[in-house]
Amino acid sequence: MKIVCIGGGPSGLYFALLMKKLGHHHDITVVERNKPYDTFGWGVVFSDQTLDNMRQWDPETAEEVQQAFNHWDDIELHFKDSVIRSGGHGFVGIGRKKLLNILQARCEQLGVKLLFEQDVQSDLDFPDADLVIASDGINSRVRSRLPEVFQPDIVTRPNRYIWLGTNRQYDAFTFLFEKTEHGWFQAHVYKFDNQTSTFIVECPEHVWLAHGLDKADQDASIAFCEKLFAKNLQGEKLMTNARHLRGSAWLNFQRVKCANWSHFNGNSHVVLMGDAVHTAHFAIGSGTKLALEDAIELVRQFKALGDTTERIPEVLKHYQAVREIDVIRLQNAAWNAMEWFEVCGERYCDQLAPEQFMYSMLTRSQRISHENLRLRDKAWLEGYEAWFAGRTATPGVRPPMFTPYAQRSVTLKNRVVVSPMAQYMAQDGRVGDDHLVHLGARAMGGAGLVMVEMTAPSADGRITHGCPGLWNDTQTQDFKRINDWVHAKSDAKIGLQIGHAGPKGSTCRPWQGQGMDQPVPADDTEGNWPLIAASPVPYLPHGDVPRAMTRADMDRVTADFVASTQRAAQAGFDWLELHCAHGYLLSSFISPLTNQRTDDYGGSLANRLRYPLEVFAAVRAAWPEHLPMSVRISAHDWVEGGITPADAVEIARAFKAAGADMIDCSSGQVSAQQKPTYGRMYQTPFADRIRQEAGIATIAVGAISEADHVNSILAAGRADLCAVARPHLANPAWTLTEAARIGFKDIAWPRAYVSGKPQLEAGFARERALQTATKGD
Ligand SMILES: Cc1cc2nc3c(=O)[nH]c(=O)nc-3n(C[C@H](O)[C@H](O)[C@H](O)COP(=O)(O)OP(=O)(O)OC[C@H]3O[C@@H](n4cnc5c(N)ncnc54)[C@H](O)[C@@H]3O)c2cc1C
Ligand SMILES: Cc1cc2nc3c(=O)[nH]c(=O)nc-3n(C[C@H](O)[C@H](O)[C@H](O)COP(=O)(O)O)c2cc1C
Repeated sequence: MKIVCIGGGPSGLYFALLMKKLGHHHDITVVERNKPYDTFGWGVVFSDQTLDNMRQWDPETAEEVQQAFNHWDDIELHFKDSVIRSGGHGFVGIGRKKLLNILQARCEQLGVKLLFEQDVQSDLDFPDADLVIASDGINSRVRSRLPEVFQPDIVTRPNRYIWLGTNRQYDAFTFLFEKTEHGWFQAHVYKFDNQTSTFIVECPEHVWLAHGLDKADQDASIAFCEKLFAKNLQGEKLMTNARHLRGSAWLNFQRVKCANWSHFNGNSHVVLMGDAVHTAHFAIGSGTKLALEDAIELVRQFKALGDTTERIPEVLKHYQAVREIDVIRLQNAAWNAMEWFEVCGERYCDQLAPEQFMYSMLTRSQRISHENLRLRDKAWLEGYEAWFAGRTATPGVRPPMFTPYAQRSVTLKNRVVVSPMAQYMAQDGRVGDDHLVHLGARAMGGAGLVMVEMTAPSADGRITHGCPGLWNDTQTQDFKRINDWVHAKSDAKIGLQIGHAGPKGSTCRPWQGQGMDQPVPADDTEGNWPLIAASPVPYLPHGDVPRAMTRADMDRVTADFVASTQRAAQAGFDWLELHCAHGYLLSSFISPLTNQRTDDYGGSLANRLRYPLEVFAAVRAAWPEHLPMSVRISAHDWVEGGITPADAVEIARAFKAAGADMIDCSSGQVSAQQKPTYGRMYQTPFADRIRQEAGIATIAVGAISEADHVNSILAAGRADLCAVARPHLANPAWTLTEAARIGFKDIAWPRAYVSGKPQLEAGFARERALQTATKGD
């Protein structure tokens, strides 16, 4: 085959040499517009794992890289007056020039033709090539020529960064944070040879503008950075090697991804590779890794499917299918890490103590969890666990999940909440044996707080005929029986979630009709009831249309909420949560999708919050002063024009000002048009943002399914409690089970169950030992 690589960066060169190795008869040329050994940038960094991968494909190159690289394990944070270091992270740093020189020399050795100083205009310049590799970097001309084919999706990010170097020696991947009168700057620093370290300085656009750096030339920018980081640089200079760039040397990161990676141009098959097809932010330093692994995968496919011209279409198809998955995974992690650095100045730097800031930074990509950190550096993690626990009533080395949490006069024994879950088992709003068994089992199961499902303040506030209510004395006594049992037989606290279904009321139990939220048929024997809401907007297109509430309706519903609250106190609940989420009555006021009022209760967010805040204030006044109250909100409607996470911060601020103790951060279910992005802990970013920006304690909820998730969330300060719903349906003793799974033994089991404890612990200990042994193979 005749192959031309446009662009002699890591991807083009590495592909060329591996392909030549695969079949010496291939005629391979790399065309590069720069001179040999002439490149921008300083060092690049990738993980040990990438080098192991390279070793399998071309030991000679890997050996050269190994000789030239700088290896280090530690990450060091310089933040305020603290220097914190943790180990076990395993990085490889190498000068970009050095890496390219190794690849160029190896290409020549294997017989790849290298053409320098040739600026290629198009993939059509090589009509006799069977295959053209567009390895022409982030601004790929080949990609730009055919946007309709490759369908690039390019996002320019708001932060500014400048890529500098220094001769100051660093022996760890170092992160420096400095505050100016206009905001925070950070530097990402890593050594890549015996004399030089890469020194990338980054800040938000508004901070950059406020310092006039948009008008600063390179020398002025360097002088600025030298002054800013003078304490750390200890007299060393910062250097640029981007003299060829005109104007400001400060860049915005561009995230590139493409729907299609290859195409036939009439003569040749053309395929994008490396930065031309995808970029990953330097916050996890993996652009070069991706470029090298692209090259490996394409060669792997040629090896597997045949390295002949006829096989090219098949090979390119498989190449994209396989690589796309890894690339998306890495881009997602890089995106999280990038966002962390974009917001850290406003969200974390002034909010978190240095110890917690370090933890938050280390877990910024959300790929590294609490238990990963334990594997990397046990001593550091245990030190951090002790720091975290030291701020609670139970000091010592223990996972954050198993530290107590105090709110008003209530202390939860640990940070796990059984999230409220509708059972649809009530009759006439009364809870009975089903609830005693359900709630009792979960109270025995180890969680610190068990929340009762949404309970209505009036009969028309129920979701279904099977939902509980608290509007009469009998119902109060029914709840009291359960609460007395829970208090007598467990050390869990029990809370009530109080809420009015509003526009989502009068629906069937999920198993009665066609699933959730289906309206009760008009001829149903149990009967239907008229709905109320902020506005006459039905939840489902075929749902019953609610009536917009009048002021008299509002007064009646507020009074119902207050009466219910008094009953909740009589029934002995420890905690009360006001349900302002999921499209129910109070949520229908908050979201602009469901509130179309033109009076004082519609329009601006402040107006839309007015009624929910009135209810909150009345309920808070009726609820005993010494007991806590949380508010559940939908922090994101997942619909264009609906509530956004930024609105959620304002909502949280308003409830905080009204006296709420915590915000329980759920999302969605406000509009049937929603398009949520599900994933592990997918709602936790809302809890994190609200906690830092509104300055109120939060409960994270949603796809939190392991102790490792809970510990990672709490330790990073992303929430104060974690609510777990569906896992508790499968396993009432979820907390006890997870404790055993991670080897935490200092947890009390119910007296009658204790003989199950050592057995469960031993089983998990065996599993962990087996995993460790398998990893060592
Ligand atoms: C500030 C910063 C820090 C980074 N840090 C890291 C890091 O720590 N670790 C990491 O792994 N990655 C890092 N990267 C990313 C990394 O540099 C790239 O992801 C990687 O180089 C991609 O390799 P590539 O071969 O696809 O493209 P490139 O390395 O960009 O190579 C493309 C080549 O094509 C040539 N070319 C372009 N157009 C033409 C044309 N028309 N004709 C001829 N030649 C052409 C260019 O001159 C260039 O040599 C960083 C990037 C930046 C901006
Ligand atoms: C069967 C079921 C019933 C639920 N009922 C309620 C409820 O009454 N009130 C509420 O706020 N959320 C309710 N939810 C939502 C959960 O509390 C929780 O927010 C959601 O399930 C995400 O958590 P998970 O991923 O741990 O399941 C319910 C969820 C389930 C699965």
